[in-house]
Amino acid sequence: MTAPTSPLPPRRKLFIKTYGCQMNVYDSARMADVLAPQGFVSTPTPEDADMVILNTCHIREKAAEKVFSDLGRLRSMKTARRNGQDMMIAVAGCVAQAEGAEITARAPYVDILVGPQSYHRLPELVARADRKNGAVVDTEFPSEPKFDFLPAPRAEGPTAFLSVQEGCDKFCTFCVVPYTRGAEYSRPAVDVLREAQGLVAAGVREITLLGQNVNAYHGDAADGSTWGLGRLARALAEIDGLLRIRYTTSHPRDMNDDLMAAHRDVPQLMPFLHLPVQSGSDTILAEMNRQHTRDDYRRIIDQLRSYKSDIALSSDFIVGFPGETDADFKATIDLIEEITFAQAFSFKYSQRPGTPATAMKKHVAEEIKSERLAIIQALIDKQLDAFNESCVGRELDVLLTHKGRHDGQIVGRTPYLQPVYVTAEQTQIGKVARLRITEVATYSLGAEFVDAHAA
Ligand code: SAH
Ligand code: SF4
Ligand code: F3S
Repeated sequence: MTAPTSPLPPRRKLFIKTYGCQMNVYDSARMADVLAPQGFVSTPTPEDADMVILNTCHIREKAAEKVFSDLGRLRSMKTARRNGQDMMIAVAGCVAQAEGAEITARAPYVDILVGPQSYHRLPELVARADRKNGAVVDTEFPSEPKFDFLPAPRAEGPTAFLSVQEGCDKFCTFCVVPYTRGAEYSRPAVDVLREAQGLVAAGVREITLLGQNVNAYHGDAADGSTWGLGRLARALAEIDGLLRIRYTTSHPRDMNDDLMAAHRDVPQLMPFLHLPVQSGSDTILAEMNRQHTRDDYRRIIDQLRSYKSDIALSSDFIVGFPGETDADFKATIDLIEEITFAQAFSFKYSQRPGTPATAMKKHVAEEIKSERLAIIQALIDKQLDAFNESCVGRELDVLLTHKGRHDGQIVGRTPYLQPVYVTAEQTQIGKVARLRITEVATYSLGAEFVDAHAA
C-alpha cells in the first residue's frame, strides 16, 4: 500500500534541536510556525533535513560548547550526503546572540545566525541564504516586538507554553541572559489573552506562562492600565476550559502581594512555584547582585504558605560562586533544610564571557565545586523523595497529558508538577482525573483511578 499523496507535497524538511530553557522550547515551536507557510515541515531527525536549526543556550559553558560539537556533526552529515540534497544550517538562540563572530569563525559553513528577538524574520533570512554564500546574520534587538509578526501558535496536546515576558534588567553578576535576551519586555495583556483563548479552543487545558522574569510582567491592558502577573492570571482564569495556569521563572524581588494572593484566590493557579534563590548566604547574594537577602526569601515563602499552605516549592542553586566559603555554602544547605523543597536544580558556577563575576577574585577550585554539588544534590534528592513519598495514599487531581512508553499507560502531572503514570484509555488524555497515588518510582509516581469506572 502506498501512502496517500497530498496535493501540495512538502518542499523542505525542517529539523530543530532545542537546548536550554522553556523559552527556547516556545521559540522553537514558533520558528516552525513562522517557516510553515514557506513549505517547511518538521522532520524528527537531521539526517534527511533540508534545514537544521540549532536553538542554542549560553547559560553555562557546557551548554555553549555542545553547540560547536553538534555543528561539527552536522557538517560531516552535510558533506557525506551523496544525493545532492543540501542542508541549510541555522544557529538561533542565545549562543547565536552572544557568540555570533565566534560561530562564523569556527563554523564558516553555518548559513544563518539569528538571535532570540529576531527569528520572526526567518523567512526573509532563508530567502537571502538561498541566494548567498556565507552566513546571513541577524542578531540585532529589533524595535518591533517579534510577537507582532508571528502566526498564532498551534496546540500540540493538552499543555502549552505561552511567552508573556522576555528579557532581563536585573544583571546578576554571573548571568548572560540580560546580554542575550535584551531588556525586559511584557506583551500586551490582550495579546496574551487572545493567544490563550486560541490554545484553549484547540484543546489546551494547562498553560505555563513564560518569561526570564515572568513575575516582572507589566503588560498594557485594554483599559489603559498596566497589569501585573497576578491580574493576568485572574483574567486567564476566566477562560472557559482553561483548567490550569502555571508560570516560570520568577525572581524573588518581583514576588508581589497581588501575585501571592492569586495563589489563594485563583483555583486554576497551580500550587507550585519555581523561585530561584541561588544561595543562602547574604554575602554571596550581594556579590551576585541578586538584590534580596536570605531573610527576604524566607519572608516570601512564609507569606506564600500563609496564602496557600500546600504550595510546593522549587528553586535553583549555584555552588562555587567566586568567594563562596564553607560557611557560605553551609548557609545554603541550612536554607534548603529550613524551607524544604519539592524539587530543585543545582549547578556549579560557570564563568561566562562578559559577565562581571568572571573578573572576580577567589574563584573556587573545580574539586570543591564538585564536592559541594554532590552534597547539595543529595539533600535535594532526599527532599524530593520525601515529598513524593508524602503523596502516596493521597488522592490528587492529575491532568492526563500523553501516552506513556508502555501499552495502555498514560502520563499526567499532579498539581505539584510531579509526573504520574496510570493505566487508562487514550481517550482520557486532556482530562483531569482523580487518582490515588500508589507508589513512588524514579522521579515519578504510580497511581490508580479513585473511581475505577473512570479509567
Ligand atoms: N531568570 C531566572 C533564571 C535564568 S537562568 C532567575 O532569575 O532566576 C537559570 C538558572 O541557571 C539560574 O537560576 C542559575 O541558577 C543558573 N545559572 C545562570 N548562570 C549561571 C552560571 N554562570 N553558572 C552556573 N549556573 C548559572
Ligand atoms: Fe539571569 Fe539574574 Fe536575570 Fe535571572 S534575574 S535572568 S539569573 S540576570
Ligand atoms: Fe539559555 Fe538563553 Fe534560556 S541562555 S537558559 S536559552 S534565555
